Amino acid sequence: MSIIGVDGGMKTVRAEGRIVNLEKKIKQHSDIDGCIGIAHTRWATHGMPSENNSHPHRDCSGKISIVHNGIIENHEDLRSVLISTGHGFDSDTDSEVIAHMIENFIDQGYSFVESFHKTLSHLRGTYGLVAVFKGENKIIGARMGSPLVVGVGVNEYLIASDITAIVKHTKDVIYLDDGEVVLIDGGDIAIETIDRLKIKKSVTEISWDYLGAQKNGQPHFMLKEILEQPETVQNSIRGRIDFHKGTAVLGGLKDVECKLKEIDRIVIVGCGSAYYAGLIGEYLIEQIAGIPVEVELASEFRYRKPILSQRTAVLAISQSGETADTLEAIREAKRKNVLTLGIVNTVGSTIARETDAGVYNHAGPEVGVASTKAFVSQVVVLCLLALYVGRENGNFSKKEGLELIKSLTELPKNIKGLLKSKDYIKDVAKQFSDINNCFFLGRKFMAPIAYEGSLKLKEVSYIHAEGYTTGEMKHGPIALIDEGFPAIVLCPKDSVYTKTLSNIEELNARKCPMICVTTSGNTDLDKFTNNVIYIPNISEYLLPVVATIPLQLFAYYVSCEKGLNPDMPRNLAKSVTVE
Ligand code: F6R
Repeated sequence: MSIIGVDGGMKTVRAEGRIVNLEKKIKQHSDIDGCIGIAHTRWATHGMPSENNSHPHRDCSGKISIVHNGIIENHEDLRSVLISTGHGFDSDTDSEVIAHMIENFIDQGYSFVESFHKTLSHLRGTYGLVAVFKGENKIIGARMGSPLVVGVGVNEYLIASDITAIVKHTKDVIYLDDGEVVLIDGGDIAIETIDRLKIKKSVTEISWDYLGAQKNGQPHFMLKEILEQPETVQNSIRGRIDFHKGTAVLGGLKDVECKLKEIDRIVIVGCGSAYYAGLIGEYLIEQIAGIPVEVELASEFRYRKPILSQRTAVLAISQSGETADTLEAIREAKRKNVLTLGIVNTVGSTIARETDAGVYNHAGPEVGVASTKAFVSQVVVLCLLALYVGRENGNFSKKEGLELIKSLTELPKNIKGLLKSKDYIKDVAKQFSDINNCFFLGRKFMAPIAYEGSLKLKEVSYIHAEGYTTGEMKHGPIALIDEGFPAIVLCPKDSVYTKTLSNIEELNARKCPMICVTTSGNTDLDKFTNNVIYIPNISEYLLPVVATIPLQLFAYYVSCEKGLNPDMPRNLAKSVTVE
């Protein structure tokens, strides 16, 4: 953190590890007093997590202080040039070159603001960047590839990379676009391009309630967000059902209605949980709308030279709307001139703005790093999308549409019922909290849920877990199974139930300790394990939603049992804005 004091001086305090360490250090500085400041929690991309590598970074004179999110790709070249002209570096980060570059231009006689602009024109890569200069009542920020938003408060401005950081102070925000620079000078604000052309930007009011970002009395955001999933689903479907026509109403797709009718293939891109939601979307859209779907990891998409015809739509799924890999995949699709769509939770985020059209999740802010309610809302929105397209192209009859709508509208009530078994799942989690390895297995709609369940457990408990389609076990992984290698098997009474049951027999024969998730009323599994978790017996299309919830709770309780903080898994960030 760097603060410009009321006397014009600048104080910088940095700490390694949690924010509380920084708070402790700041308390030791009674002389910090000012109302212009910058701070950053760094996600290590270059250099070890250490105090020297933490932000803010300063120039040689200590007059310039910067915080930077993103990656400066040409930092090594810039660093060599700066070192050859006498600059000394304090850290291993790519970001530090920015402070020295600004200093370099100031030494040549340019003002702080001019030097900042000149520096930007030398940077290659991505940045959400903010700088201050000792003795000047200014903050200057710039955006290229990494998000930056300006909060317009009462007698104050706030700059952040995510609105959740500022929503407590103001709901009026200005979203910066790539290549834009914001200067806050005393009480004035000005926005320009890097080449110094003035830009007029409008102020947007965000509708998220700050209370929505509080824990609601729960010990962790992760649990709070798991428990609020009945409302999440309700919010995702609210106003989006046409009971008369047996279809979905998706206002965000209205502008591209005609283009959508021409589409004969959909490519879904996303990362992590969003990618797994996409895999469920593949089954849903293919079955309900009869349109071929491929799902690609966004981080691979643009490196494969994707073959996209004019009748292909590329659909990005992202909670944050800022994931760099997903954004770049969408930009690649746009370069190929195809229709781009988004399923995005964060209103006004970059992916929401850069796609041609889309559907918001309306899940509200998700604070826990491990995605829970956002994932569930992604699956629900994919179901609405499949229903809309399927009804438009006639692949899904009105009768089928109405049946699905009935299941969708009953989903919040069903989730509420399921959440009542949370204490039972806690007990099961207790028994399994000291395992070192674990398989998550499922077929068809349950396969992506197995992947998602394994990701959840990995993230918050640091236990090695692997998600597999149950049918693949016999092709290799079953070699690992013995009495010390447990499996969580998703085995609802769905269209592939008997197949999954055979696989359970195979695991049982190898003494695999199992937790089975099945639909209520099914007693077949009692002979294999005492740990059977029941989910409601609903439409197969929506089983993924109810099957994922016990796995979220399982991961959460294992994490708590191990004394970890599930809200802040090590090495992870909520929004991954670097490639
Ligand atoms: C897993 C998780 C991540 C995100 C991924 C994509 O619990 O949260 O895997 O799903 O980083 O993030 P968004 O959806 O913001 O693009």
